[in-house]
Amino acid sequence: MTIERTLSIVKPDAVAKNVIGKIYSRFESNGLKIVAAKMKHLSKAEAEGFYAVHKERPFFADLVNFMISGPVMIQVLEGEGAVAKNRELMGATNPKEAAAGTIRADFADSIDANAVHGSDSLENAATEIAYFFAADELCAC
Ligand code: PPS
Repeated sequence: MTIERTLSIVKPDAVAKNVIGKIYSRFESNGLKIVAAKMKHLSKAEAEGFYAVHKERPFFADLVNFMISGPVMIQVLEGEGAVAKNRELMGATNPKEAAAGTIRADFADSIDANAVHGSDSLENAATEIAYFFAADELCAC
């Protein structure tokens, strides 16, 4: 397994619940390091650009409106197999289907307020990291 970087977002519902630290603890206790982080209230244009790949899907407007409903915490996670590891820790997109002990099972309420985002491939991780972070904002710890 190689060292990878992936983009993670703690979504507005989880920020509002004040569980950023609990979610960070899941990353850190499972071998993922936070090598960059920023809190941001996304503009509509930023959220639409980030989710552009989903623009034809019926939930696109709801997803964008949710993501701009409050601040988000955006981080780059680094570790062995970070992309898959983060997806495993997150659990299924629909929290009702998420395995016990995953972030979404423990902190998410619904498929449209599902606590976290994580890149779904190494290629998308590189694109998503570059969407929010300049190269000099990533730390080599
Ligand atoms: S995934 O995780 O990318 O495979 O999931 P996918 O089903 O392709 O969904 C893509 C993103 O859309 C969100 N989503 C929704 N938002 C609002 N309403 C509904 N019904 C809905 N279904 C899916 C889902 O949480 C994914 O967001 P991210 O931020 O990528 O996790």
